Amino acid sequence: MFRTLLAVLAIAAMPASAQEKSFTLHAPKSLIETGFLKHLLPRFSLKTGVRIKTVEGNADAKFAAQGTAVFAQDGIVWHFDAIETPRTEAFEKWLLSDVGKRTIEAYAPDGTPLFSADVSVTKAVEATVLTGDAVLGEKISLKQCGRCHVVNASNRMKTIGSTPSFALMRTFPDWQERFETFFMLRPHPAFTQVSEITEPFADNLPSPIAPIEVTWDQIEAITAYVGSIEPANLGAPLQSQ
Ligand code: HEC
Repeated sequence: MFRTLLAVLAIAAMPASAQEKSFTLHAPKSLIETGFLKHLLPRFSLKTGVRIKTVEGNADAKFAAQGTAVFAQDGIVWHFDAIETPRTEAFEKWLLSDVGKRTIEAYAPDGTPLFSADVSVTKAVEATVLTGDAVLGEKISLKQCGRCHVVNASNRMKTIGSTPSFALMRTFPDWQERFETFFMLRPHPAFTQVSEITEPFADNLPSPIAPIEVTWDQIEAITAYVGSIEPANLGAPLQSQ
């Protein structure tokens, strides 16, 4: 620790010419508040002598929604987006290197790593950004889907046992597409209406006993909520999910 400190001080005390080996970085508040950058950036600087100064507003580089996928946090993929310079390139390369990945995953303020260097798992999700309101999505899921599906622990005992749980369906690689189109997938068309999307139930058929009516915004909210839940551990018996 003391050695690390000395090294940091040594970098800080470098003459101006060496200090020019630096670039500015902008990161969203939500990322800064995790404390992650204070862990990450000095470690890169130690290896390379390149300093990274976090700034607000315009910067040489930023962590953002676009660019090169570099690490993930709860299914959100963070990207590195930079003006190309040897310094920013070195940082990007380092983030993707084995050492960089280990450094990313070593950040565990409460004992569990907060970030993952494995961005491949979440690629499919990141392709279409989930814009719905996950909190609203949970409420709607419990109300509209919860009489058949286990949405989460709170309705585990009130469902139809054979219907797949949300956590189980979250393991499907194409879960997002399935949730966005659930109203077209059996058995839902018989009892589901989506405002301004589906046709009214046919007149010549008896109306469903307990129809579901949702809007597209609500489907987006449900999908965002499903995106936030932990996929079921398929190693465990299905009953416990
Ligand atoms: C009346 C019971 C019922 C309700 C209410 C219900 N579902 Fe389902 N759902 C099912 C059953 C049964 C299946 C399994 C179908 C199968 O195995 O082919 C299913 C399957 C699904 C699937 C996977 C479909 C596929 O083919 O991959 C999704 C996604 C889904 N439901 C989403 C929802 C959402 C979102 C809601 C609430 C807005 C909802 N369901 C409400 C009974 C229901």
